[in-house]
Amino acid sequence: MTFASDSLNTATESPTPAIVMEWSVNGFDDVGDVLVLPLFKGVEKAPNNALSGLSRAQRATVNEALTGDTFTGKKGKRLSIWTPGCRIVLVGMGNSSASDKSCRDAGAKLMAALTKRDGTAVTVRFTTGWNSAKMTLFIEGMMLRDYKFDKYISKDDKNGEGNDGGADNQDKIWNVSVQASARHQESLNNSLASSAGITSGVHLARDLGNEPPNYLYPMEYADRVQAWAKGNGAVEVEVYDYEKLQKEGMGGLINVGKGSVRKPCMILFTINPKADSGERVPCIVGKGITFDTGGISLKPGAGMDEMKYDMHGAATVFGLMQALVATGWKGRVNAIACLAENMPSAEAYRPGDVIPTYSGKTIEVLNTDAEGRNVLADGLWKAGEFDPSYIIDLATLTGAVVVALGHEATGLWSNDGELSVRIAAAGDAEDEIAWPMPLLKAFEKEMTGSKIADVRNLGKGRWGGSCTAAAFLKQFVPERQDGDGKKSQIPWAHLDIAGTAWGASTNAMVAHGATGIHVRTLHRLITQSN
Ligand code: BES
Ligand code: MN
Ligand code: ZN
Repeated sequence: MTFASDSLNTATESPTPAIVMEWSVNGFDDVGDVLVLPLFKGVEKAPNNALSGLSRAQRATVNEALTGDTFTGKKGKRLSIWTPGCRIVLVGMGNSSASDKSCRDAGAKLMAALTKRDGTAVTVRFTTGWNSAKMTLFIEGMMLRDYKFDKYISKDDKNGEGNDGGADNQDKIWNVSVQASARHQESLNNSLASSAGITSGVHLARDLGNEPPNYLYPMEYADRVQAWAKGNGAVEVEVYDYEKLQKEGMGGLINVGKGSVRKPCMILFTINPKADSGERVPCIVGKGITFDTGGISLKPGAGMDEMKYDMHGAATVFGLMQALVATGWKGRVNAIACLAENMPSAEAYRPGDVIPTYSGKTIEVLNTDAEGRNVLADGLWKAGEFDPSYIIDLATLTGAVVVALGHEATGLWSNDGELSVRIAAAGDAEDEIAWPMPLLKAFEKEMTGSKIADVRNLGKGRWGGSCTAAAFLKQFVPERQDGDGKKSQIPWAHLDIAGTAWGASTNAMVAHGATGIHVRTLHRLITQSN
C-alpha cells in the first residue's frame, strides 16, 4: 500500500451544526433593525399592532405604500422600505387561505432576501389573518433557509465584497423576534422549538452532504456519529468497522468499499434504546457512498464531483436521528447507515465478480457503478434483525429516477400500500414530495435472472433503471412469520433521492448544495402518524 493512513484528513469535526438564528416569541414591543410585516391581500391599512413602536413618519410611509398600488399583498411580492433606524419589509402572502407550502416558502424567500448589512435584529410581526400554525411555517421556512456551508472559505473572502472590518455583520447570527398577540404565544413557543429541533437535523444532513469527500470518508462519518452520541443517554450507536464487517460476512459493503484505502463501515443507531412500548418500531436505512467514482466501471468525468453527495441517504439518517433527539422524541427508533467509498484500484471488486452478502444470497456484479444496491443489501438484511414495524431505505440510487421525476420528487417504491400512502402523505405535508413508482414482478424477475448467482446487480437493458434497482433491493428485505404462521416480507419502502438530495432549484428551503431531504418527512412520519 502506497498510502500512509496519516495522509488522510483525520481531524474529526463536531457534528452538531452551528446554531443559526436565535428566536424568541414576544408581544408587539420593540422593533429591531428590520421589521418584517407579512400581509395578506386586501390589507389597505396596516393593522394597529403592526406599526406599534414606529414613529409617526414611519407609520405614514407604510400606510401610504398600502393604500396605493405599490404593495397589494400579492403572493411573492415584497416591498422593502428604508426608514431612519429601521428597514421595513412588507411581504405579500396572497389570499388568507394561503397553503402551508406558500407560508413556508414565503419565510424561506424572505430569509434569502435579507442582508445582514441592515442589521441582524429582525422583528417579524404577524397580525390579521395569521394563526399559529401558519406563523410557525413562515418562521420554519426562515430557519431552514438560514444555512451556509462556508467552512472552507477563508475568512476574508466570506463577505463576498472584501473585508470591510466586519461592519456588514456577516459574522453575527440572526436574532428574530416573532411577535404575535398573546393568545398565540404559548403554542408558537412550543411549535417553534420543535421547528428549530427539526431544522438542526436538516442542517446536519446538509453539512454531511456538502462535506468534501476528502474530509468525509466512511470512518470519519463513524467518528462524527460517536462524537455526537457521546454523553447523550438518549442514543446508542455501534460501529461495525472493516474487521467486524468481515466477521459478519457483510460482503455487499466489503466488496464495494475494499477498493479504497478508506475502508467501509456500518453504523447502527438506536434512539431511546430503553423505551419499550411493547410495539415494533421503525428502522431507517441509508446509502452512504462518500464518493462514487463508479469503481472499475468508471463514471465519465463530467460532473463527477457531485458524487460526494452519494452519501445523502446516510446523511438523512444521521440528520433524522438529530431531529428526533432535539425534539425530545421518546419512542425507540433504529437506523442503519452503510458507508463505503467506491474506488477503482488493484483491490477493487470487478464486473463479473460474484459476491456474497449478509443475507446469504449471492450477487452477480455486472457493473461496479451499481454499488448502492450492493451496500443496501446488507443494510436491509441487518434491519430485519430489529424486527421493525417497517423498514425505509433512502438512497441516491439511480440516475434513472432523475430522468423520470427531475429534481421535483423522490421516487417511492413499497411492498406495502398503506406504508406507501403514509410516506407520501408525510412528504406532501412537508413539501418533500415522494411519488409512488411501481414494484412490478417483471422487474424482480429481471433481477433474479442471473445464470450464476441469486441476484444480478444490473437490469437487462437500461429501461426502467430505477424500477429494476428497487426490485433488486426487494430481494434483501427479510420475511417473518405473522400470527397465523404465514411468512411475509416486513413492510418496506425505498426512497430514491438521487434527484432531490441536491440540485433542486425550485426548493426554496435551500440556496444550493445538499438539501437535507426527508429529514422532515420521516420526522413527521415517525412522530405524527399512527
Ligand atoms: N450514485 C449513482 C446514482 C446517481 C446518478 C445519483 C446520478 C445521482 C445522480 C449510482 O450509484 C449509480 O451509479 N447508478 C447507476 C446504475 C447503473 C449502473 C445501473 C446509474 O444510475 O447510472
Ligand atoms: Mn454508482
Ligand atoms: Zn452511487
